Amino acid sequence: MKIVHTIADLRAALAPFQSPALVPTMGNLHEGHLQLVRAARPLGDVTVASIFVNRLQFAPHEDFDTYPRTLEADCAKLAAQGCDVVFAPSEKELYPEPQGFKVLPPPDLADILEGHFRPGFFTGVCTVVMKLFQCVFATASQPGHAIFGKKDYQQQMIIRRMVQQFNLPVHIVGVETERAADGLALSSRNGYLSDTERAEAVQLSLALRALARDALAAGHGLPDQLPALEQQALQALAGRNWKPDYLTVRRRTDLQPPTAADAAAPASLVVLGAARLGQTRLIDNFEI
Ligand code: PAF
Repeated sequence: MKIVHTIADLRAALAPFQSPALVPTMGNLHEGHLQLVRAARPLGDVTVASIFVNRLQFAPHEDFDTYPRTLEADCAKLAAQGCDVVFAPSEKELYPEPQGFKVLPPPDLADILEGHFRPGFFTGVCTVVMKLFQCVFATASQPGHAIFGKKDYQQQMIIRRMVQQFNLPVHIVGVETERAADGLALSSRNGYLSDTERAEAVQLSLALRALARDALAAGHGLPDQLPALEQQALQALAGRNWKPDYLTVRRRTDLQPPTAADAAAPASLVVLGAARLGQTRLIDNFEI
């Protein structure tokens, strides 16, 4: 496995290949990321993982400075999965000057849910993903693949739209969320949890499952009942000392609230939630 830190070295490493499969990450890899690498391997003739903690997607009060940087351990894990190339650029390499041009995703997709609670987050994500795609795919002779976890459901959807609208030569592949034995979605931020918080953390996914069940039971009455059902789910978590941002049922395609027609086709729906437990903000979702 090659580890490269510059765009020139990356392009040189990829030159012999036609169709890369990329797994973009911010490092501190866990089994969920490794699952993405396993999904990537059969999709291209070279498997690339990028490791870059992207300042642009963190608000000033968020955890950019403390986000774990574990390059050596990450590379060992990637090598064991058969990854071919690791691209781990410095900030100076990827942002040699302040990024003046940015990718602005449309507000109807990017200012709701995560984007409402993390203003500018998806601009930061889209901008860095566009840059990573340019680094990895611009010189490839055939379209490539980029693999994203469905745990970041909105991110994956917005990147899909970005790829469509910019005609990027990349197929976006979404991979199911990896979970711990108790059902907690794997996340780099789980490492911030104390033992007591870790035991409690599964309650977010349980609250979402309960909301999904209630949504199904509501049937075509869902649009009318949804505010009350969401309130109930928020209160269930708040009562356990969580600070929930949102727990909601949305359409999978555009993450808008479901109409009665959507409710009649529950396979078109997804439940999504984000909540803070102590200092740690966790997100999760289930496709119904
Ligand atoms: O999902 C992540 O880890 C990040 O948002 C990504 C896609 C690597 C962009 O920095």
